[in-house]
Amino acid sequence: MFYKLKIFILRIIGYDKPLRTAFLKYLSLKFKTFRPHYESILLESTKEAKKLGYREISVLELGVAGGNGIISLENYKKKIEKLTGVKINVFGFDYGEGLPSSKNQFDLPFLWSDGDYKVDKEKLKKKTNSKIFFGNIDKTFQSFIETNPFKISAIFFDFDYYTSTKSFLNQIPKNKDFFCPRVYCYFDDVFSINHHINEHNGELLAIKEFNNENDKIKIGKSLANLVDFKFPLGAEKLFVLHNFTHNDYLKNLDYKDHKSNLDIGDHKAGSLLD
Ligand SMILES: C[S@@+](CC[C@H](N)C(=O)[O-])C[C@H]1O[C@@H](n2cnc3c(N)ncnc32)[C@H](O)[C@@H]1O
Repeated sequence: MFYKLKIFILRIIGYDKPLRTAFLKYLSLKFKTFRPHYESILLESTKEAKKLGYREISVLELGVAGGNGIISLENYKKKIEKLTGVKINVFGFDYGEGLPSSKNQFDLPFLWSDGDYKVDKEKLKKKTNSKIFFGNIDKTFQSFIETNPFKISAIFFDFDYYTSTKSFLNQIPKNKDFFCPRVYCYFDDVFSINHHINEHNGELLAIKEFNNENDKIKIGKSLANLVDFKFPLGAEKLFVLHNFTHNDYLKNLDYKDHKSNLDIGDHKAGSLLD
């Protein structure tokens, strides 16, 4: 009992994030559709699409399961569409039968089991208006592309597995025209509390291999920085895909928060409300 108390106290004292951040995280765990990280990524990717002159975009959630993520996206999308005037089309992709069977050691089989997160399709249908493609991503992404979708501006990766993430990433180069010049990518499974996930397995390995195999498209991670205020709870898992040869890649988007006129005494550092 005393030992457990000691460990508990050590964990509280040694926790290196501000407790207000932990509280926000707690709220997002307690209320499953409260996802400030989903909201801020959806908002910033839509604002960039607007700057590019796009009036309609596609947003993907890879791995839908019970639907909490896609429902939160649907809620946020209404407000963001109103604010930006850009129409957001949300699409989900899920195997439907729970996690597919895997014997691949890079899929972290010691964390997840085949069949986890099986979807109750009837229940999900009642809760969401978004189109969900059921089946393995190695087939369903192509079916989605055949619908000639608007450009993809944000992707919420939550397949858990290295193999599934890689299967999606492998399909990007040949479909690169369906992606925005820069795509906001949230990777849910780049950390586990026992520190089992790293660049040698899971999503991080799939990203590393993708970058090694492709010159014209890269998925990168920004450094942590003091002025990083736009992505509450999301920054650590946010990567950006750069579609370097996209027709609009070079278009200047006049990001005011990056600019000052560099006159002496001018110290504009970006607004919390931009
Ligand atoms: C952790 S759950 C998703 C949770 C959901 N994003 C949320 O926030 O509530 C992972 C899902 O990924 C799906 N999945 C994994 N590999 C897949 C594949 N190759 N094709 C399609 N779906 C896959 C599984 O069926 C499972 O439902």
